[in-house]
Amino acid sequence: MTRDDALALDAADPLAPLRAQFTLPPGLVYLDGNSLGPCPAAAPARLRQVLEQEWAQGLISSWNQAGWIDLPRRVGDKIARLVGAGAGELVVADSTSVNLYKVLSAALGMAAAASPRRRVIVTERGNFPTDLYIAQSLAAEHGCELRLAGPPGEIAAALDEHSAVLLLTQVDYRSGRLHDMAALSAAAQAAGALTVWDLAHSAGALPVALHRDGADFAVGCGYKYLNGGPGAPAFVWVHPRHADQARQPLAGWLGHAAPFDFAPAYAPAPGIGRFVCGTPPILSLAALECGVDTVLAAEPLGGLAALRAKSLALTRLFIERAARLAPALALATPLEEARRGAQVSLSHPEIGWPVMQALIARGVVGDFRAGAPGQPDILRFGFAPLYTRFVDAWDAAAHLGQVLAHEEWRRPEFARRQAVT
Ligand SMILES: Cc1ncc(COP(=O)(O)O)c(C=O)c1O
Repeated sequence: MTRDDALALDAADPLAPLRAQFTLPPGLVYLDGNSLGPCPAAAPARLRQVLEQEWAQGLISSWNQAGWIDLPRRVGDKIARLVGAGAGELVVADSTSVNLYKVLSAALGMAAAASPRRRVIVTERGNFPTDLYIAQSLAAEHGCELRLAGPPGEIAAALDEHSAVLLLTQVDYRSGRLHDMAALSAAAQAAGALTVWDLAHSAGALPVALHRDGADFAVGCGYKYLNGGPGAPAFVWVHPRHADQARQPLAGWLGHAAPFDFAPAYAPAPGIGRFVCGTPPILSLAALECGVDTVLAAEPLGGLAALRAKSLALTRLFIERAARLAPALALATPLEEARRGAQVSLSHPEIGWPVMQALIARGVVGDFRAGAPGQPDILRFGFAPLYTRFVDAWDAAAHLGQVLAHEEWRRPEFARRQAVT
């Protein structure tokens, strides 16, 4: 394969026009949409409209007239289409961490009500830190045990009659490994446990089927593959068979059944509405809606199934080229496509950080994650199929090869660590 072949793949790609939905700096190869999606071209005008008309002119009337109060559900219904959920089942609210707290607490409450013996939260040792920290906090609060399973094969074995909840992230943030949601949900269900799925690295990147795959609860990020902007609000989904029983602990006024009655006693809204807590961040929600719309724009072109096929082709190309040009880096992402998200991770025990800084200096933006204890550090490359081109995958591997061949990573400026990696 040649660079011209990569360009030909882009020319023949029916999804290629979707890239024009974003403002991306010219000449940059952006492979960090798994951390922060790019800015939708529609977002500045929409935010100006919210600022200059809805806020400046409409003032408080915009809660009703501009539909601000409905935004958590309106954007939630759009995200629901991307994760295999129904309308009215998902809301946008708070951060992923806060939503994890809400659903994990609700799930623990339901499990304890079913059987007081169910006192174990099962998760993975390598889960994203916020998932682990929230689970630690709730385990301490509820007097539960937190059981950390090792490699994916051990997860089902960690479930037993004491399990209350299985908490998993569908696509691992370090390796990009994709869990089999259907199989693991079935294993949890067979053990009598509820499932909580963190979709941070899967929503908007690949087809997610919460109903079909037997999930009970799910949360996810707005700022990664949903392109909602830095610190975009997150989403929360609860299976409708649980939603009216689930007791979420952050009983805020906007999760009340009738918030404008201003009743002194809390009465939860029916269904998912109770998972809203306080006043929604309208500017952030407006930007998130623009981001979600960029993913929905793929629907007439085959939607997430087509995007998934493209991201696999992109990651396949990058994996092959990187193996050839950067053999000093080991592949940390599963080669098996059914086990791979939209990200490729390469590892090295020592030089991961300076190699990534040297790549960024060449205009190829990925990121770095410190390895798990005893494991090598990770260089992450996200292949968000909405806007990443085949030639980007080709060029990224070529630059990586150059950085290593010329030992550019040795330059002292690339050793300097920054606050955000
Ligand atoms: C798997 C996972 N969960 C949660 C988060 C972040 O949660 P929050 O939106 O609360 O910062 C991340 C951020 O990278 C993540 O990778």
